[in-house]
Amino acid sequence: MKIERAQSSKIHSIDFNNLSFGQTFTDHMFVCDYIDGEWVDPRIIPYQPIQMDPSASVLHYGQAVFEGMKAYKDDTDRVWLFRPEDNHARINKSAARLAMPEFPKDLFMNGMNELLSMDSDWIKPGIGNSLYVRPFVFANQAGVAASASNRYSFMIICAPVGAYYSGEINVLVSEKFSRAASGGVGYAKAAGNYAAAFYPTQLAQKEGYQQIIWTDANTHEYLEESGTMNVFFRIDDTLITAPTTDTILDGITRKSVIQIAKDMGISVEVRPVKVAEVIEAHKAGRLKEIFGAGTAVVISPIHGIGFQGTKHVLPTIENSYAAMLKEKVVHIQYNKSEDPYQWRKEVVAVNA
Ligand code: COI
Repeated sequence: MKIERAQSSKIHSIDFNNLSFGQTFTDHMFVCDYIDGEWVDPRIIPYQPIQMDPSASVLHYGQAVFEGMKAYKDDTDRVWLFRPEDNHARINKSAARLAMPEFPKDLFMNGMNELLSMDSDWIKPGIGNSLYVRPFVFANQAGVAASASNRYSFMIICAPVGAYYSGEINVLVSEKFSRAASGGVGYAKAAGNYAAAFYPTQLAQKEGYQQIIWTDANTHEYLEESGTMNVFFRIDDTLITAPTTDTILDGITRKSVIQIAKDMGISVEVRPVKVAEVIEAHKAGRLKEIFGAGTAVVISPIHGIGFQGTKHVLPTIENSYAAMLKEKVVHIQYNKSEDPYQWRKEVVAVNA
């Protein structure tokens, strides 16, 4: 792998106590190109703008997929990733759905390890601090013929981050718009899924909600995911979440929560969740918690859920599942506890 170091670091100009999510990037980025059926020229270069032909396929047809990961630093300055093989598998699953080539695992892991080692000063220790790692692939063949591109670029960029949401999270049940339909690309981390969510989300924000909670496209009766999160409902003491069909992203935090909750002896049901069931449970005082799970948000309690003009506010409870599960997950991520599942992977430089 070729490495070109930045002439000087920007790190001293960054206020790590006042980071806006995803606005500040580290000194370097990993790049690899797909040309004539092969991934070639893997390299780490200074973080910089890229040049692209105005007819590049991604700009017209949105052929692009991405991943969201985090690197964590423990108290002895060792750096860790959480289930990175799962992100690699998922970016390839997403790529396949968008007729894009798979990216080799050794290049993915080596590129990321090298990049994170070079920029490790950007990862601050302490729970809540992390480096958001964004691998992505896009079509950059020139020409506006509407067909799959022959040329792609794979890149990894990294952003030091704190919390994704600063205040309370209220979600509005979508009764009209859909994020995904069966047979579509909902399970893929495709750029266009997020673009299509912005407009309904803006409408929800005008009503005082931070996020939409999507419902199924056919009936709008079943709850799917919310914004950048999978969603969990605690009714009485049972934790319920929707299954990952082809309309729901197979979240890595989601499946970690399911595993840990089961091992804690919590009753977990993975099944379709009706809006009506959740609203009725709330009216009956049985809806104890709703929380979102995702890489960026970690595990975030939801304060209220809006449906048909009414905001149903969740009670404040002691010993919430969200808090207990979050502690277990982050302790594994930050090397503060045993890792019985071997989810944590230490970042070790390849070239060093
Ligand atoms: C994630 O949490 O997995 C993300 O990638 C969030 C991102 C869309 C901001």
